[in-house]
Amino acid sequence: MQLLLFSASTRTGSYNTKLIELTSKLMKTQADDIVLDVADFKEFDMPLYDADLNATSGLPKNALHFIERLQKADGLVISSPEYNFSIPGTLKNLIDWVSRQKPMPWKAKPILLMSAAMSVVGGNRGLWATRIPLEACGSYVFSDMFSLALAQEAFIENGELKDSGLQDRLNKNLADFIHYVRRLT
Ligand SMILES: Cc1cc2nc3c(=O)[nH]c(=O)nc-3n(C[C@H](O)[C@H](O)[C@H](O)COP(=O)(O)O)c2cc1C
Repeated sequence: MQLLLFSASTRTGSYNTKLIELTSKLMKTQADDIVLDVADFKEFDMPLYDADLNATSGLPKNALHFIERLQKADGLVISSPEYNFSIPGTLKNLIDWVSRQKPMPWKAKPILLMSAAMSVVGGNRGLWATRIPLEACGSYVFSDMFSLALAQEAFIENGELKDSGLQDRLNKNLADFIHYVRRLT
C-alpha cells in the first residue's frame, strides 16, 4: 500500500509538518507493506487558478506533478492549518487546479484529514471546510479526523506527543484509516 502524506503549511517549524512527521514515524510501526511518499507542500507551488491560463496552457507543471504522486497513492494523509475558521487558500487552490484534470484525479481516493493549531479546537473547523471540496471531487474522506489542540505545547523533543493518551488516539486513528484503505483497494 502506498500513501501520500503532506502538511499544507510551508512555514518553518510548522506544527502540521511536525504532525505529519510523527504520523510517518507511527505508520512505519503499524505495517511492513506500507510505502510512504512524504511530500513538501512547497513542491506544489502553483499560480492562482485562472480559467484563461487553464484554457490556453492546461494545468501548471506542479499541479501535474501532484497528480502523478496522487495517482500512485492508494490513500492520502493531509495535515492542514485552519485559516480564519476554514481551509487555507493555498490548499483550496491546489484542489481546484487538480480537479480540472480528466478523469477526476481525486475520485475515490481515501483521505485522512488532520490539523494542528495553537487554539483549543486544534483547527478542527478548518477540516470541516476541507471535506467539502474533497468530497465534491469524489474523494472518500475518512469519517474520523485528528485535530491537535495547543500544538505549541504538544510535542516533546523526539517529535512525539507529550500526552501519551492522545498519541494512542492518533495511533488508533491511523490504524483505522489503514484498515479503511485496505478495504477499498
Ligand atoms: C491567515 C491566518 C489565519 C489564521 N486563522 C486561524 C484560525 O482560524 N484558527 C486557528 O486556530 N489558528 C489560525 N491561525 C493560526 C495558525 O493556526 C497558526 O499560524 C499555525 O501555526 C499554522 O499552522 P502551522 O504551524 O502548521 O504553519 C491563522 C494564521 C494565519 C496566517
